Amino acid sequence: MTSSVKTVERLVDRFGRRVNYVRLSVTDRCDFRCVYCMTEKMTFLPREQVLSLEEIGRIASVFTDLGVEKIRLTGGEPLVRRDIVELIDYIGTLGLKDFTMTTNGSQLSRYAQQLKKSGLHRLNISVDSLDPDRFKRITRLGSLSKVIDGIDAAQNAGFTRIKLNAVIMKGRNDDEILDLVNFARERSIDISFIEEMPLGHVSDHNRVEAFCSSDEVKKIIETQYPLRPVAQKTGGPSRYFKMPGSNSQIGFISPHSHNFCGDCNRVRVTAEGRLLLCLGNEHSVDLRPILRDNPSSNEPLKEAIIDAMDLKPERHYFTTDGDIQIVRFMNMTGG
Ligand code: 5AD
Ligand code: SF4
Repeated sequence: MTSSVKTVERLVDRFGRRVNYVRLSVTDRCDFRCVYCMTEKMTFLPREQVLSLEEIGRIASVFTDLGVEKIRLTGGEPLVRRDIVELIDYIGTLGLKDFTMTTNGSQLSRYAQQLKKSGLHRLNISVDSLDPDRFKRITRLGSLSKVIDGIDAAQNAGFTRIKLNAVIMKGRNDDEILDLVNFARERSIDISFIEEMPLGHVSDHNRVEAFCSSDEVKKIIETQYPLRPVAQKTGGPSRYFKMPGSNSQIGFISPHSHNFCGDCNRVRVTAEGRLLLCLGNEHSVDLRPILRDNPSSNEPLKEAIIDAMDLKPERHYFTTDGDIQIVRFMNMTGG
């Protein structure tokens, strides 16, 4: 190399969309069994099928070489993976603009300080109910007080722009929308409301009956707080709003009612190393054999990722008619 200026290659798909955001699932395991995400009895992947932390690190580094500026770690629950902090330490050195994690919060009181030190920028924490019994029913195994302790720990560790995620289901937690908004306001954190997506077969409720559109959620919030759209584009599927007298932003993730594929900038990698080009389609490339056949060179991996861009479909076709379009669950996909 004669020049010290790093030339960054770019990932662009057939529709001219630039991919600069990768979501890496680090495990399919979780200490919760949320009703919309898993069945009660889940079989998890045998360990040898899951990428090692080193393999995940290689993927992260190649994507950054290819111009990716934002990485989110997801699961399952990322913090149930042993030694996860080592991976976060490593990714923290890659110079990302945005390095985030989605977590259920159950172990945050233990990890928050360390995560901050390792260079993680932001956290998304899932909270669907503020009633302990309901929280237990929705997550099947979760404890609300632990998650609230986790949110406190993250705020005390200095994390800012923490975002809560709530999946709203009719008859389950749709009467808690304003309580959730007030909880976020009190703490000056953000909250996004998510429409349930038809990923995997769930037995616990009927998705058609439980479906609650973002527009319905928004109307309920507007009975109390006028919402003003936030101009700034996040490049993500969320639409954001602000309320008077508060810093908190309200987001809506509406895979059904507001198709967001047109400016999709992201791809996902499953815990097994499958590169998914779209949340709602099966188009994918298996990166694991490429990693394992080439332990000392990242070039083949880089080529495979560049080639995969041609497979990125134009859009997803989720419907609310109860069809399961995608057989994999969110814990396999990496929310
Ligand atoms: N539909 C919508 N959101 C889901 N999540 C998990 N499964 C689903 C689904 N089927 C959410 C979780 C978490 C994020 C990672 O994805 O609530 O906030
Ligand atoms: Fe675990 Fe998140 Fe799935 Fe709930 S939604 S079971 S917390 S991976």
